Amino acid sequence: MKIAPSILSADFANLGRDVKKVTAAGADYLHLDIMDGHFVPNLSFGIPVVKALRPLTDLPFDCHLMVSNPQNYIEPLAKAGAQIIGVHAEATAHLCRIFQSIKQAGRRTEVVINPATSLAAIEEILPLADAVLVMTVNPGFGGQQFLPFVLKKIAHLAEIRQQGNYHFEIEVDGGINEQTIKECAAAGADIAVAGSFIFKADPAKQIKLLRDAIKS
Ligand code: DX5
Ligand code: ZN
Repeated sequence: MKIAPSILSADFANLGRDVKKVTAAGADYLHLDIMDGHFVPNLSFGIPVVKALRPLTDLPFDCHLMVSNPQNYIEPLAKAGAQIIGVHAEATAHLCRIFQSIKQAGRRTEVVINPATSLAAIEEILPLADAVLVMTVNPGFGGQQFLPFVLKKIAHLAEIRQQGNYHFEIEVDGGINEQTIKECAAAGADIAVAGSFIFKADPAKQIKLLRDAIKS
């Protein structure tokens, strides 16, 4: 399983330092949570921060857009150095058009769904998705508790992938710790995003705890 630290829980006064720390610790992706205070009841950071962090690491940037008008951010994000662009199915009526613009920009498509959103809402877009991010908390804040009912959805998505011979990766985000990462891996997830768990102590030690948990 791949590990994607979410910098939402990093020290914003030392963001560059923390990005270098998780890079040195062998993270697989860097997860960047972009919030507009409208789609979710919180503000985080925007494109200038993504751009400023780009020269500091070779990790692929997995940008999770929690914004009301995702179509406005695709090109700027691609230019700022995002490799994977995650768009909430709940945020747009035109997911296909947005996916087309992500592809046009040469980036990887990711559809994101909230805990209460059914897989039926994204079924038709699955052939075009490089990743599906299943939220395991309500989006907007770090440090929330994992919602166990979502595990069934992850397992169902893994089944659909197998039956449909799709190529997308399954990613989970929210409340990931040593215990919940095991449950997500067992359900079929490929990538785990973790914020507070990684940054609450030494990131290298915390990433190792997550990797050991999956092995056990
Ligand atoms: C929440 C964000 C997450 C967040 C996860 O809306 O999408 O990426 O940083 O934080 P933890 O791991 O603390 O639940
Ligand atoms: Zn996220």
